Amino acid sequence: MSNPSLLILPGDGIGPEVMAEVRKIIDWFGAKRGIAFDVSEDLVGGAAYDKHGTPLHDDTMAKAQEVDAVLLGAVGGPKYDVLDFSVKPERGLLRLRKEMDLFANLRPAQCFDALADFSSLKKDVVAGLDIMIVRELTSGIYFGEPRGIIEEGNERVGINTQRYTESEIDRVARSAFELAMKRGKKLCSMEKANVMESGILWREVVTEVAKDYPEVELSHMYADAGAMQLCRWPKQFDVIVTDNLFGDLLSDAAAMLTGSLGMLPSASLGAPMANGRPKALYEPVHGSAPDIAGQAKANPCACILSFAMALRYSFDLGAEATRLEAAVEKVLADGVRTADLLNEEGITPATTSEMGDAVVAALEASL
Ligand code: NAD
Ligand code: IPM
Ligand code: MN
Repeated sequence: MSNPSLLILPGDGIGPEVMAEVRKIIDWFGAKRGIAFDVSEDLVGGAAYDKHGTPLHDDTMAKAQEVDAVLLGAVGGPKYDVLDFSVKPERGLLRLRKEMDLFANLRPAQCFDALADFSSLKKDVVAGLDIMIVRELTSGIYFGEPRGIIEEGNERVGINTQRYTESEIDRVARSAFELAMKRGKKLCSMEKANVMESGILWREVVTEVAKDYPEVELSHMYADAGAMQLCRWPKQFDVIVTDNLFGDLLSDAAAMLTGSLGMLPSASLGAPMANGRPKALYEPVHGSAPDIAGQAKANPCACILSFAMALRYSFDLGAEATRLEAAVEKVLADGVRTADLLNEEGITPATTSEMGDAVVAALEASL
């Protein structure tokens, strides 16, 4: 049997920097655990635009559809601000999500003990935190029609449309309930049913799906109140399910509960393929961080932990995923910190590459 296939799309800014560290981890698993992947690499985002004039070449799209999993760094950057909207780097990522139909975006926010002091929230608010945000990823206001900028009278109007079908809500709700069943059996659904019809439908459909999961305690919250509760007492949550835009905002907020945006991984999952595994793309929640790109400052943990999610969700290697997560936790406990995880003057931060090396060393020590 051939090895499972992995398509790596490093992208722009710090994307290639953090991905270089993941490569070390992949090599380690091949050499020391006999877990080998057929790895190919390609361009996405601004890097693809620079070469092909498009943020995602059709050949890359086709490859992404064929492989067992895609691992993506980050896209975007100020250099591309001037481009036409249709070829902006972010369009490449959105095309991947849409055409692969990756409707369930899992964004776990876990506060490692070693970082509990570092979060901008009080230690007892975040210590031991382990929540999962499930963000709908292929519909809603990101993709709804009509959209555009039109002339109306003597001015222009910017238009985007929030739109959800029952089946789109149903499938992401089921993913969230399934996850809740494997975790703390609590699900909180967030929308704005008080002001949006799509929110009313969202609440109705989620309530209907709940009948198939009687063991899961379902609650509903308006997303604005949800944002407040996430900062007030995040440990009240287990799994949160929400739409595309609210999920984008709430997951960045949740990042700060863990200490840094550089810590948050994600898995974007679609329907099962012929081999029974879901179509999948793994990527850190953060972006290309133009303010620190090229300075060896980026924290590679979010990307490394995204690979751990790939081991768990695409390759049935849950124990190896746990090994990798424990290695990251050990490195943090040992005090290795990239600059985003430090606020004291006078301490020299670890570089991106030193952090990656420390994770490899911790993996080695786990044998
Ligand atoms: P960003 O996530 O790139 O950066 C926000 C802040 O967090 C910056 O100060 C950055 O230095 C810091 N940061 C992010 N990741 C870090 C890491 N791994 N280590 C240390 N610090 C880190 O968000 P932004 O500045 O709003 O966006 C920059 C570009 O990235 C934009 O073009 C945006 O569209 C794009 N973006 C892409 C993705 C993606 O590819 N999935 C996600 C978000 C933003
Ligand atoms: C994310 C990003 C993307 C989004 C952008 C880059 C398209 O912010 O993955 O969180 O808005 O979904
Ligand atoms: Mn985002």
